[in-house]
Amino acid sequence: MSLNPEIIQKLTTIVGEHYIFSDQETRNHYGHDETEDYVFPPSVVLKPANAQEISAILKVANDYKIPTTPIGARTGLSGGALSIYQGIGLSMERFNKIIEIDEQNLQVTVEPAVITQVLREAVAEKGLFYPVDPSSMGSCWIGGNIAENSGGARAVKYGVTKDYVLNLEVVLPNGAIIWTGANTLKNSTGYNLTQLMVGSEGTLGVITKAVLKLLPKNNHNVLMLVPFYKANEACEAVSAIFRAGIVPSALEFMERDAIDWTLQFVEGISVTIKPEHQAHLLIEVDGNYPEILMQEAEKIMTVVEQFEIDEVLYADTEDEKNALWKMRRSVAEAVKANSIYKEEDTVVPRFMLPELLSGIKKIGAKYGFKSVCYGHAGDGNLHVNIIKGDMTDDNWQTQVPLGIREIFELTVSLKGTLSGEHGIGYVQKNFMDIAFSRTHLELMESIKRVFDPNNILNPGKIFPDEL
Ligand code: LAC
Ligand code: ZN
Repeated sequence: MSLNPEIIQKLTTIVGEHYIFSDQETRNHYGHDETEDYVFPPSVVLKPANAQEISAILKVANDYKIPTTPIGARTGLSGGALSIYQGIGLSMERFNKIIEIDEQNLQVTVEPAVITQVLREAVAEKGLFYPVDPSSMGSCWIGGNIAENSGGARAVKYGVTKDYVLNLEVVLPNGAIIWTGANTLKNSTGYNLTQLMVGSEGTLGVITKAVLKLLPKNNHNVLMLVPFYKANEACEAVSAIFRAGIVPSALEFMERDAIDWTLQFVEGISVTIKPEHQAHLLIEVDGNYPEILMQEAEKIMTVVEQFEIDEVLYADTEDEKNALWKMRRSVAEAVKANSIYKEEDTVVPRFMLPELLSGIKKIGAKYGFKSVCYGHAGDGNLHVNIIKGDMTDDNWQTQVPLGIREIFELTVSLKGTLSGEHGIGYVQKNFMDIAFSRTHLELMESIKRVFDPNNILNPGKIFPDEL
């Protein structure tokens, strides 16, 4: 789709000639995120400066029925920022300010293009804590986190993005600019449009400001890496830790290939993994009182020792802790560097995790693919990387989608769902029928229509191609 000169003229008048791009290089740059190797360049890239400009852009988009895709840091894993029908790519990059850290109310008002890690560090300087820590937090943006309802390793104790969003300034597809709620911790006033926006993947509105809840920062943690000889026992240990009365601040699972490939991929991590270890749990407890944390760590030890484990590695120094976290956060990139792959974001109630893992392996054996699994075990959230390896292109294209469908059917049969934190976006939309009845999907589509009757905002995401 190329936009005619009249439209380009109107858009140029709105953003100014320095913030509209139609050269191929820029369009390609904004045409991909981290989802597999998809590239869908928009016809034109706009970099608006404020909500009023976005409002004017969306009015033009409605007048001319131009697909418009909000684009954040492009770290997404479900293709939410891909301009699959071309049109306008709306880069939010100029919205990059932390507007106010409210130390009295423990809140921060932030624009969507602030890097999550930058926000975490800015509030930490004031003794405050923004706990949400996606593995990509060094490059992902708060706006994308809100759009996808991102999680991360600390979600098991502190929750995901939705648990920190109090209020949003949003430009609706018709150009109206609203605040969705209030800057309060409690709110029983009408429908909860704030939480409707969270996780709506840029299909209902464009977020231009967010008011987020903060916590006081705690100062201590204990981090341990537990090697298991059997991967299913590592999964069994997960729910046992909670049943023993502990809520860890992170409880991460990594199959041996996940660690192995990461150690080969990232330099400077001195962790030794033995070939006979099938999986590891990375477990952290945090708080204000070191002696209580030591007691909790001991309690965790008594749980994991009921399984076949090898010697537990305690990270004693900040450097050792950082190395273990770097290893864990680099798994996705390492897998991507290793092979063509597909990543699924399955989530089940945590006690069902062993059944999910063994089921995935059985499905892989049936359809002839290898999988490398890792993720936020404490949340029952398992990232399943399906590896192309030496599979033929034909099998990759025909067998793997059948296998993925079976994995999702298994997930739903275990009372879980398709995505825990990456979103549905472009790549999982045609599996939505597994999680939802037709009535349910039609209800969601009706909501979309109320907000966006012309289907201009991020079309082709979330909803299956055919209902
Ligand atoms: C992670 C990302 C891929 O957990 O969600 O590393
Ligand atoms: Zn994750």
